[in-house]
Amino acid sequence: MRKITVIGTGYVGLVSGTCFAEIGNRVVCCDVDETKIAKLRQGEIPIYEPGLKELVERNAANERLYFTTDVGEAIQASDIIYIAVGTPMSETGEADMRYVMQAAKIIGENLNNYKIIVNKSTVPVGTGQLVRMVVQANKKYPWTRFDVVSNPEFLREGSAIADCMNMDRAVIGSDSEQALEIIAQLHEPFGTRIFKTDLESAEMIKYAANTFLATKISFINSIANICERVGANVMHVAEGMGLDSRIGGKFLQAGIGYGGSCFPKDTFALAHIADKAGYDFELLKSVIRTNQKQRYVVMSKLREALGGLTGKQIAVLGLAFKPETDDMRYAPSLTIIPELLKQGASVRAYDPIAVDAARVQLPPEVHYYDHVEQTVIGCDACVILTEWQDIVEMDLGTIRSFLNQPIIVDGRNCFSLEAMQEHGFEYHSIGRPTINRAERDRHSANF
Ligand code: UDX
Repeated sequence: MRKITVIGTGYVGLVSGTCFAEIGNRVVCCDVDETKIAKLRQGEIPIYEPGLKELVERNAANERLYFTTDVGEAIQASDIIYIAVGTPMSETGEADMRYVMQAAKIIGENLNNYKIIVNKSTVPVGTGQLVRMVVQANKKYPWTRFDVVSNPEFLREGSAIADCMNMDRAVIGSDSEQALEIIAQLHEPFGTRIFKTDLESAEMIKYAANTFLATKISFINSIANICERVGANVMHVAEGMGLDSRIGGKFLQAGIGYGGSCFPKDTFALAHIADKAGYDFELLKSVIRTNQKQRYVVMSKLREALGGLTGKQIAVLGLAFKPETDDMRYAPSLTIIPELLKQGASVRAYDPIAVDAARVQLPPEVHYYDHVEQTVIGCDACVILTEWQDIVEMDLGTIRSFLNQPIIVDGRNCFSLEAMQEHGFEYHSIGRPTINRAERDRHSANF
């Protein structure tokens, strides 16, 4: 059993801290936000993440998981300190390192014996060395020793607990053999592959991995755009490509582009790191541009289907950046809904979880509904932005009868072309043939 302090009870800190407690360690999660800590002590979880509440409650009840605002005291009582504070994107696109540096300072001030300081926040290469300097400069007791480790997280929102308990690999970087060994041992109960490397390489692995996945998504979205023009079906193309084990089938789902807290931020940050290092990362810049443009593919499909958007009523199904989360960061809905309103449409919106988070970020003209069916009533078209289960499983017969015009623009390829054909929808998806367009055009041409 290790005594661990986790600084920062955001998404990464809370999930990682709870999972470390679950495998038998004593974990103290700290935050400067008193309200948040008070709520966590009552078992109230500030984010929506399936399974997290039960895990927090169980480990708190078993006296393995604690919450406090007294960071100093927690640091003094622990032998491993995880830094899991936010590194938001600054205006220039670089990661804002303010909170990491504050954490390093407070660790230095409370360093009372040998401790391992582990960075879990996504930070530019070189931050580990910077943390070392800040801790060193703020040490109260000059004789105390410490080591710095980078142990990046690869959790996906919505499946973070499963990802943490069954992680693909643990990446651990340090120039101290002792620290590498201790952090590797800490991960043993997860039964995962452990990859040990130096500090800088571990920091780079996180950016390289996320950027590679983002590249896969922009790549398949570009292929989808070509498929539409040449009459191919991107879902078949992705499946056929993915059967090559060198490529793999994951992250080849074409759609409206990636969002969320990591990919947009990390791709921008790595582009900056490259620029600063004197390398023009053209490929990555193109990945970012392709992703931004992909949002507008849905817009032009809608405009084309409806012959313009002025005065049209649109049902938007799904607001969160992906299912099983209430996270709205870089969600496609944040680009698409304001654009719909700007072009003269009115918007009725639905999301099973993210409405509260969406309301504060979207224009006040948007109307929200509790059910998919209710949302589409009297609408001229329905646009799908998040593939929530209840959206994928919606009753197509009912939806068709409630819509003013049976038009679906699907940014997530939720339905088979056969199902759309069968229910008589005009169906526009990403990288696949449009269903029933010709018939509608003929029909309207006759009147
Ligand atoms: C991601 C990484 O997967 C994780 O390892 C990292 O630590 C944090 O960032 P997350 O942002 O939670 O996790 O979600 P993920 O499931 O990876 O999806 C990211 C975005 O890509 C979503 O907007 C999703 O809709 C999109 N996506 C994903 C696609 O458009 N196509 C795909 O094939 C896969």
